[in-house]
Amino acid sequence: MGNLEELFTSVRSQFPALTQLVHGKKLVYLDSGATTLKPQSVIDRISHFYSYETSNVHRGAHYLGDVATGHFEAARQKVADFLGASQSEEIIFARGTTEGVNLVANSWGLSNLKAGDEILITVMEHHGNIVPWQMVAEKVGAKVVAADIHDNGELNLEDFKSKLSAKTKLVAFTASSNVLGTNTDVKLLTRLAHEAGAKVLVDGAQIVSQLPVNVQDMDCDFFVFSAHKLFGPFGFGAVYGKKAILDQMPPYQGGGSMISKVTIEKTTFNDVPTRFEAGTPHVEGAVGLHAALDFVEKIGLDKIHAYEMEILKSATEKLLAIPDVKIFGTSSNKGAILSFNLKGAHHSDVAQILDQEGVAVRAGHHCTQPLMARLGVPGTVRASFSVYNNHEDIDALVKAVAKAREMLL
Ligand code: ALA
Repeated sequence: MGNLEELFTSVRSQFPALTQLVHGKKLVYLDSGATTLKPQSVIDRISHFYSYETSNVHRGAHYLGDVATGHFEAARQKVADFLGASQSEEIIFARGTTEGVNLVANSWGLSNLKAGDEILITVMEHHGNIVPWQMVAEKVGAKVVAADIHDNGELNLEDFKSKLSAKTKLVAFTASSNVLGTNTDVKLLTRLAHEAGAKVLVDGAQIVSQLPVNVQDMDCDFFVFSAHKLFGPFGFGAVYGKKAILDQMPPYQGGGSMISKVTIEKTTFNDVPTRFEAGTPHVEGAVGLHAALDFVEKIGLDKIHAYEMEILKSATEKLLAIPDVKIFGTSSNKGAILSFNLKGAHHSDVAQILDQEGVAVRAGHHCTQPLMARLGVPGTVRASFSVYNNHEDIDALVKAVAKAREMLL
């Protein structure tokens, strides 16, 4: 791994959070599935924006207003390029993946779904890609149906196909499970959904930091992701939608910016994407995401993927060498996520012991209660890896899990 090791040692040095001790121990941050740490370049960019460029966008008749608007729209173009969209008008800024799904569910869903229609999801979806569909389904009389997984955490394609029918109007699925790590075959699922006459929304929250995305190649109708899982700021993200579909969609929220003309009697709405961006936007979110994408592109997603796969392989082997460890999600096509339990121990107790050792993981149902029910467990411990993790982190995890086993079993 020579060169990769060197590259990622230098990447690691760009994350100030990793220089601190927690509980008197070196911080081993293995919770990147929940949110990634932020590199200095992103922190500096946001600080610079607040220090010297603070201004509202699309409104100010002054120099700083133009500067901020320029950065905001440059970020939109950057996201369009990152996702392989054909034009920046296909990118709507939102608070994150969850708001993105809610936007599509409420705008496209409420105006296109009717009684008897079905929305096909998978049993491994995050609540953010389940609950908005249930809420819309309840309003219009549609039904949410979920495709099953195999025991190794891969999607059960036969079950998926059997649940696709003329009734299916929308298929919404994750590109990469936040619990199992499983990467789905987005192109194939999209093609099958389109053949059945359904539109497709892809939850990209966990894929964007690990593999290149090209929405035109995927041919999905909507793609949503969050900046904070991609080294960027909290409270920000984007929705990609095919322009022809977005053009037909009504607004999601009303307010400033999204209008064309307002009288007391009636409002006409702005064009896409502004129609979907009511109120003052999260400008530093856009600026920070731009810097985060620069950071990712400078390393290269090909190198990030290769490095994370190496880390995942080693962590999997070492963790499995501890007796009583059971890993959930063993697909050969998965992201750098390890969900596991110690047989006979509660996930929260394991996580607490890990925390005392400086090892930060997530434990619980991971906002995927239907998946937990399918796996037959109340929760798991989840270690998720990113560009700043190294082999010492894996050893710290393994040592802490072995200690938890000694203490709990
Ligand atoms: N969806 C995030 C996670 O998986 C918060 O932890």
